[in-house]
Amino acid sequence: MPSTVLDVLKKTASFFEARRLDTPRLEAEVLIAHGLGLRRLDLYLQFDRPLTEAELAPLRDLVRERGRGVPVAYLTGTREFYALPFRVTRDVLVPRPETEGLVDLALAVLAEVPGPRVADVGTGSGCVALAFLKERADAFAYATDVSAAALGVARANADALGVAARFDAREGSVLAPLRADVAPASLDAVLSNPPYIVRGDPSVAPDVAAHEPAGALYVPGADPLEVVAAVAREARPLLRPGGLLAVEIGAGSDVAARALLERLGYLAVDVRPDLGGVPRIACGRAPAADAPSP
Ligand SMILES: C[S@@+](CC[C@H](N)C(=O)[O-])C[C@H]1O[C@@H](n2cnc3c(N)ncnc32)[C@H](O)[C@@H]1O
Repeated sequence: MPSTVLDVLKKTASFFEARRLDTPRLEAEVLIAHGLGLRRLDLYLQFDRPLTEAELAPLRDLVRERGRGVPVAYLTGTREFYALPFRVTRDVLVPRPETEGLVDLALAVLAEVPGPRVADVGTGSGCVALAFLKERADAFAYATDVSAAALGVARANADALGVAARFDAREGSVLAPLRADVAPASLDAVLSNPPYIVRGDPSVAPDVAAHEPAGALYVPGADPLEVVAAVAREARPLLRPGGLLAVEIGAGSDVAARALLERLGYLAVDVRPDLGGVPRIACGRAPAADAPSP
């Protein structure tokens, strides 16, 4: 008896359950649909369809890879962020739902600012800057990343989302790539989800540590706020007075992040929680241009 779509789904879901994946049935559906070139909901219309050996072989590869811990997004090559489809490869972090808070905050703070100009530091797939550009048709975004491969993914996403003409992605560290031609006090916001994990942190899920790019996860040294601090420091002279700094931080860094931003002279410093209640986004407003710089 040939295996049907439903047989394969059930077998895959129980294999994923045994591997203790969080959402075994959902992941089985996503991967099987991807492997068969179907939309997930179409699977339900084809439960009784018998599958040929030629169809089963690539499904087995996908399921085996997921069983080894490879994130679903790397296997399907796509991940939704801010209800938009983003292409992802193993060169970029898989966009996380909690990072959508950066976009929400920028949209809220800049709602009344015409033609906002923002920068996204450590853009990866480009998800933060590009989601903002999709929501604000009058906005322009710079983006930086130390990874040339990640910037390639971000530019491809900008093309696919139809915002490439308003997206300028540059290779280099933090905001250095912008200094030559972005005027001081000219940006309305600097947004960033930088690396904030110290190597060896036991709270990092083994699958994440094994498969996502180390350069996206880990700070170079022992201070989780090392890159956050560089972003906050370098953003100050580029932000207009009142401009928004918003940086994602790791659990447990909120007190230090607040102190850091206050030390750098930011005003209205706050740390916003994510949907799980974890303090997640450290933010503040740039002071007037003549305020002393630390
Ligand atoms: C945590 S990932 C975030 C990617 C994407 N913004 C997101 O939220 O999914 C951090 C990104 O920062 C980049 N990165 C690491 N150090 C950097 C630095 N000093 N300057 C600029 N980008 C950096 C990494 O290559 C990676 O793409």
